Amino acid sequence: MSAPPALCVPLRDGYVLRSATPDDAPALAATVRSNRAHLAPWEPVRTAEYFTDDAQRARLVDRAAADAAGRSITALVVGADGAVAGSLNVNDVVAGAYRNGHLGYWLAADHTGRGLMTRAVDAVCAYARDALGLHQVQAATLLHNEASQAVLRRAGFSRIGLARDYLFIAGRWQDHLLFQRILSEAPPPS
Ligand SMILES: CC(C)(COP(=O)(O)OP(=O)(O)OC[C@H]1O[C@@H](n2cnc3c(N)ncnc32)[C@H](O)[C@@H]1OP(=O)(O)O)[C@@H](O)C(=O)NCCC(=O)NCCS
Repeated sequence: MSAPPALCVPLRDGYVLRSATPDDAPALAATVRSNRAHLAPWEPVRTAEYFTDDAQRARLVDRAAADAAGRSITALVVGADGAVAGSLNVNDVVAGAYRNGHLGYWLAADHTGRGLMTRAVDAVCAYARDALGLHQVQAATLLHNEASQAVLRRAGFSRIGLARDYLFIAGRWQDHLLFQRILSEAPPPS
């Protein structure tokens, strides 16, 4: 399979959703550093190294290889000034009878409340369908993450159900609500 095309979609007010590259590491690291407290309740516990430019570059290099092989999607919401405002990932892409990927995302605190993530999630779903041929995308939120659940509802996801002790977030196994969006009814390629 040839590498999927790059993702690049205008969102609003000069913000763009585009594929990440290793050269985004310094801007991404700056944003994760300044949003450490904002993101901590919703993520795995991060090591100190995670917040360095070098660690972000290594992560983006690994992800670029997986993206090129069609196993994941790594995208950033970037402002007109070049600052990273948010991140979206589709992980665990599988083919066969499932054709599913798992979606995760975050916005920097000073970029929330403008509808950016709703548009970005919708755009990444269209890309997952058109570039990777996925049938569905699934997402999981903590039970009290109402902002994230609202994003998923606005972006056309429906609730699957409650999964006990689903992910190790903020230092403990936590229950999650699972959501799915069906992207295409086309049968898998034979
Ligand atoms: C989850 C998260 C991305 C949601 O951010 P958000 O700003 O609420 O989502 P959006 O960018 O879609 O913006 C929606 C808000 O903009 C408003 N808005 C303005 N214009 C809008 C438009 N054209 N379309 C949609 N919403 C719009 C909405 O009313 C909503 O505001 P409200 O929450 O006051 O009702 C953010 O809270 C976050 O990053 N949290 C920490 C990490 C996290 O939880 N990640 C997800 C883990 S499952």
